[in-house]
Amino acid sequence: MRKKVTVVGAGNVGANCAVRIADKELADVVLVDVVEGVPQGKGLDLLQSGPVQGYDVNITGANDYAPTANSDIAIITAGFPRKPGMSRDDLLLANFEVVKTATEQVAKYSPECIIIVVTNPLDAMAQAAYWISKFPKNRVVGMAGVLDSARFRTFIAQELNVSVENVTGVVMGGHGDTMVPLVRLSNVSGIPLTELMDQATIDAIVNRTANGGAEIVKYLKTGSAYYAPSAAAVEMAESILKDKKKVLPCAAYLEGEYGINGLFVGVPVKLGANGIEKIYEIKLTDEEQAKLQKSADSVKELVEVLQSKQ
Ligand code: NAI
Ligand code: 2OP
Repeated sequence: MRKKVTVVGAGNVGANCAVRIADKELADVVLVDVVEGVPQGKGLDLLQSGPVQGYDVNITGANDYAPTANSDIAIITAGFPRKPGMSRDDLLLANFEVVKTATEQVAKYSPECIIIVVTNPLDAMAQAAYWISKFPKNRVVGMAGVLDSARFRTFIAQELNVSVENVTGVVMGGHGDTMVPLVRLSNVSGIPLTELMDQATIDAIVNRTANGGAEIVKYLKTGSAYYAPSAAAVEMAESILKDKKKVLPCAAYLEGEYGINGLFVGVPVKLGANGIEKIYEIKLTDEEQAKLQKSADSVKELVEVLQSKQ
């Protein structure tokens, strides 16, 4: 039997997740959105791409969750994107309500699924989905690190004129300006970055990575990135659906790892059929640990706002 993925939010990220899942023939897809007709229209349009693209998966759209029943994965992208001048955190309360409704419905119709949260502010929204779904921590994961490290890898490859496939870029922490690109652990086919670039170039790339989302918002003006974000979410979904056990940077619920307790923060995890199958706790330098703690503190501030509204 084919796998089934619910994508909540048929906007830019959600629709592109559906396109990528179909193109990779990973699963049937149900798109859900509050706007009448949009998920149905996009679903039908995508279904009609099947004969050309050569996929047989079924893609439908709905305004309710009944058709999503028994999904293996739910990718939550519903919400409001960032506008120029707006921080991810400004989105907090508006998107909390959206993620709350989506999670309640997903948990009701697909109680065994794995939830991948994309909606911003990412780490706080993953925490909200964890609270509301009451799922075990291995079945709620946030997408940000795969995107942030893809940006880091892109800029490194561009600078060195090498294949992106040879570049490993490690980014930890929350999905915000305080994210922690880890230069020490990043390399090109095993060659440390510090052997390939001077410090000023490395610093510029780290800074560009941390502001990678804002750079695109500035260009687009009316929304935020969606091609790389959908690619990142679908890489995570694929690793789960195929039990590939990829090691990817994802927002995971930490219970003491890295000295952080009761908070979703981006760390390297193993993603397989059971969701987060392992959290890797790597030894950080004092400076890296301090940056990670600072990033976790900024996530905590948002989570405390949510807690005060519960
Ligand atoms: P979009 O505006 O294109 O799509 C959002 C969709 O959500 C709209 O179609 C809207 O009708 C729908 N929606 C709103 N309330 C809903 C509800 N209660 N139930 C179902 N659907 C609902 O926005 P886009 O670009 O797709 O971004 C979506 C979210 O993903 C934003 O919060 C954005 O900030 C976040 N994002 C996060 C990234 C990450 O790295 N974690 C990367 C890119 C985007
Ligand atoms: C990004 O980093 C908007 O969080 C989103 O592109």
